[in-house]
Parts: sequence; structure tokens; C-alpha cells
Amino acid sequence: MPEEDPRIVELRSMREKSRQGGGAERIAKQHAKHKLTARERIDLLLDPGTFHETEPFVTMRDDETNPSEKTPGDGVVTGFGNVEGRLVYAYAQDFTVQGGALGEMQSHKICRVMDLAVQSGAPIIGMIDSGGARIQEGVLSLGGYAEIFKRNAQYSGIVPQISLILGPCAGGAAYSPALTDMIIMVEKQSYMFLTGPEVIKSVTGEIVDFETLGGAETHLSISGLATLTADSEKNAIALTRRVLSYLPANNVDNPPAVASDDSPTRMDEELNHLVPIDPYMPYSMHEAIEHIVDKGSFLELQSTFARNAIVGLARMGGMSVGIISQEPSVMAGSIDLDAADKITRFVRFCDSFNIPLVTFVDSPGFLPGVDQEHRGIIRHGAKVLYAYSEASVPKISIVTRKAYGGAYVVMSSKYLGTDINYAWPSAEIAVMGPEGAANILYRKQIEAAADPAAERARLTAEYREKFLNPYASASKGYVDDVIEPRETRARVIAALLALRDKSVSALARKHGNMPV
Ligand code: HXC
Repeated sequence: MPEEDPRIVELRSMREKSRQGGGAERIAKQHAKHKLTARERIDLLLDPGTFHETEPFVTMRDDETNPSEKTPGDGVVTGFGNVEGRLVYAYAQDFTVQGGALGEMQSHKICRVMDLAVQSGAPIIGMIDSGGARIQEGVLSLGGYAEIFKRNAQYSGIVPQISLILGPCAGGAAYSPALTDMIIMVEKQSYMFLTGPEVIKSVTGEIVDFETLGGAETHLSISGLATLTADSEKNAIALTRRVLSYLPANNVDNPPAVASDDSPTRMDEELNHLVPIDPYMPYSMHEAIEHIVDKGSFLELQSTFARNAIVGLARMGGMSVGIISQEPSVMAGSIDLDAADKITRFVRFCDSFNIPLVTFVDSPGFLPGVDQEHRGIIRHGAKVLYAYSEASVPKISIVTRKAYGGAYVVMSSKYLGTDINYAWPSAEIAVMGPEGAANILYRKQIEAAADPAAERARLTAEYREKFLNPYASASKGYVDDVIEPRETRARVIAALLALRDKSVSALARKHGNMPV
């Protein structure tokens, strides 16, 4: 056996040093917090044996501060590999190296994989665990963040960008995920905030803990920043792999179709009994969705933020779809500011990545009130109109019950450019509900009646009879067909297949001016 070439021995030793990141002691500290290292995370994300690392020997520049702080890899592991056999680019910040804080060279490494991802048309997954801008590198680290933010923005809508938050995510570390398509957080382990509890206490006097300020639950339910959460980082990474299975690699690719053992023509009898005869009784739209899409395929996003609206990815006949709806059992499905934002962002995400939109409608309208008006419900509602009007993917809508006034128009109505509009026999499409309409239309008649209450009830019933059915809309072509609820799955899948090659050319412009 010839002696090992010393140059190869040196390479192996340098590789090992790079693999060690911040060293055994800090790795043990990370494990003691029940957190994985950057490399363990990459290994869980990618198919076994597919990871190829880029720039493992990059360090801080020689002229930057203390040489003892130089660690090969500079606090981030970058490279490419496969998820279910499909190429992705990924980076994982290494908390064992200066708390994953971002300096100039770390930012160069991240920008490099972002550039490669876009040039090769593949998703980019960022695994964030970082104290934000690296303090000792000053403006170089701030500039490094700016380089990343610029790419997040410029690559938005070109390749899917997903952020996994796996530890603290402070300052600049929070803004990059906020510019990506999805944020996946880990309960009781990941935090996002611009200024931490200490700074808040000194500036505003408020006392708050990490979890309440910026934990997974806070961002899923209150701020709306988190798209998904998981109870462990292992499950968060598994969720990321699942999300990717619905998405195309880029904006000129189509989402992958999978084989489904759920028959595309399955009739679902239970749906025919879902909507109560009494129009004031709620029912669960979640249940309707689960019955209609491929069994077990619905992945709800932002599930506890604006629970009056539902958005999520699903499959129908094996095809990826974006589901949008109201939840009539929460605030009667009315649309408030947060629901409008939730719907808008999801419609635009799906449209960016060629995912057809399937919209279920049951809403009495926008939420009335001084608070909503003053906080800009017109501006926020306008975003929904903008997003649906702009979306050029196949669009299918199904009115299941109420579609009153603004809610009818904004929720994928025909003349916003929806391709196929269906209604269930329980659909009530009208400018407003019967009580409000009777009071406005027949006020004088009601006041003059011997028994005003009886007259109001009679006129309300008359209005209901005349307007609150799907046939008034179908007779004018505003609804393509009235269908039995049990047929919905088969009719939507047939429409999706018919619209598969839909192509719409938009007028050239720099970009629109969405009312954000
Ligand atoms: C350099 C940092 C650092 C940072 C942490 N470290 N944050 N080094 N720059 N920003 C180092 C620590 O010195 C320590 O080094 C190691 O990382 C681990 O940190 P600990 O504090 O021991 O860990 P922990 O108790 O888990 O707390 C983690 C933390 C905390 C919550 C992230 O470190 C923290 O609050 N850091 C500062 C966060 C912050 O304010 N960032 C904002 C930067 S401004 P040793 O050697 O002991 O292992 C910014 C602006 C960008 O980002 C603007 C863009 C718009």
C-alpha cells in the first residue's frame, strides 16, 4: 500500500475542520437544546447521499477582526441535492459559529446558491438559525443582508423560496424569510422578531418573553407570518418536503402530477347533506374540502390566522390545486382585513407557480364596522380583487351558499376572469341578505303596514324566494351550471383537465401597482 499523498491528507483534515463548524463543545450545546446542527438538518431535508456542498472553505476576510473567529464555512452550509429525486438548492446557518450570525462572506455563500438556484430553475430552501447581522463585521454584514433581500425580491415568483426557522431569527435574519414564499416554524424552538425582549423592555417598558413575542404559535395565529408550524424540527423538515411535492421547480414548469388512487369521478353522497336547509345554521367548509379533494391531500396553510378564510394546497385527480374559501362556521365566513390579506397572498403564490385556483364561496360579505373601515378594509379588499383579476392560471369557483355583494364579486366571480363557475342548489347570490334588502327596498311599505313585523317577514320571504337561489344567476350566464354537491369533485377535475393548456397573454408593462 503506497503512503497517502500528504496533499490528500491535508484536504481530508480541512474538510473535517469545516464539518466541525464551531467545534464539539458548541455542537454538544446545540444538541442539549434539542436542536440539530446545520449538517444534520441538510441531511434530513435531502434524499440520502445527494448533497453536494459548495464553498466549505470560505472564511471571514483576513482584514476583518480577530483571526481566531475565522471558521471554514463561515457559519453556513450551502449546496444542492435532491428532494424526492428533484433538484433543490439549500443553505443552513450554523448556530455553532457565532450564533449563525451573518457576515460578508456568509452572505456571499448564500447569494451564490440563490443565484445558482435561479439559473438552474430550482427551489431554494433556507434553514435559518441566526442572531442576525454579525456585530463585529459592521456594515459588511448589513450590506450582506441587503444582497440577500434583493435576491429574495428579484427571484420571487421565479423559483419557490421556502424558509425554515429553526432557532432564533433576529433582526435581518427575520426579513429574508418574510420575503420568501413560505415560512415554516418549530413550536417552542424558533422565534422571529426584529427587536428582542431586552430592547423592547428598555424602549417601551413592555415585558414579554421570546415565545409570546415571536414564537411559532404567535406567528401562526396572530401576525400571520408563519405559513406552517411543526412540533419538532424533524417534522418541520418533513413538512417542507411535502410542500415541495405540490410545487413546480420554477415559474415555467408545471406542478408535478402524481398518481391518485382516489377516483376522479367519485360521487360523494355526504356532500348532498352538508349545507343545512336553515340558512342561519353553520356547517364546516373544511369538511366539504376534505370530501372533494384527493383523500388526505389537503395541506392547510396559515391555519389559525384569519380562521374565517381557508387557504391550502391539495390534489385533485393527482393535479396540484390551490384551495381558497371562507369558513362559514367562523364569523359566518365574512371577509375582514386579515382574511383579505391571507387570500390575496395565496392567490398570487399559486398564480406565480402555475397552480390552478379552486375557490369555494360562502360569505355574507366584508366585515362591517368602523374599526375595519378605518384600518383600510377597502384597500385590503381591493387586493383580493387585484389578485384574482391578475391571476392567469385556470380558475374554478363553486358557490356553496352565501355570495352576497362584495364577497360575490371578489371571490373568483365570473367577470373577474374565472373560467368555470359552479353553484350548489343552496347558493344565494345577491347584492345583500334578505333582511337588509327588505328594509332598504320596502321601508315605506313596512312602516305603513298595519303589522310592520309581519309585513317585513312576508317581504323578506318574497325576496328570498325571488333572488336567493342559483337560478337567477344561471339564467343570466353568471353561473355556468348548478350542480349537485356530490358531483363537485368530478366536475372540478373535468374542468381542470379541460383548462390544462389554458394560455392568456397579458399586456406588456413594467409591473402593476397593487394596492398593498
Ligand atoms: C455576532 C453573535 C450574534 C451577532 C449571537 N452571537 N448573536 N455574534 N453577532 N449578532 C454569538 C454570541 O456571542 C455567542 O458566541 C453565540 O453567538 C451564541 O449566542 P448566545 O447569546 O450565547 O446564544 P443564546 O443564549 O441562544 O441567544 C441567541 C440570541 C442572542 C437570542 C440570538 O445571541 C442575541 O440576542 N443575539 C443578538 C440578536 C440581535 O439583536 N440581532 C440583531 C442584529 S441587527 P459564543 O462565542 O459565546 O459561542 C440586524 C439588522 C439587520 O440584524 C437589518 C436588516 C434590515
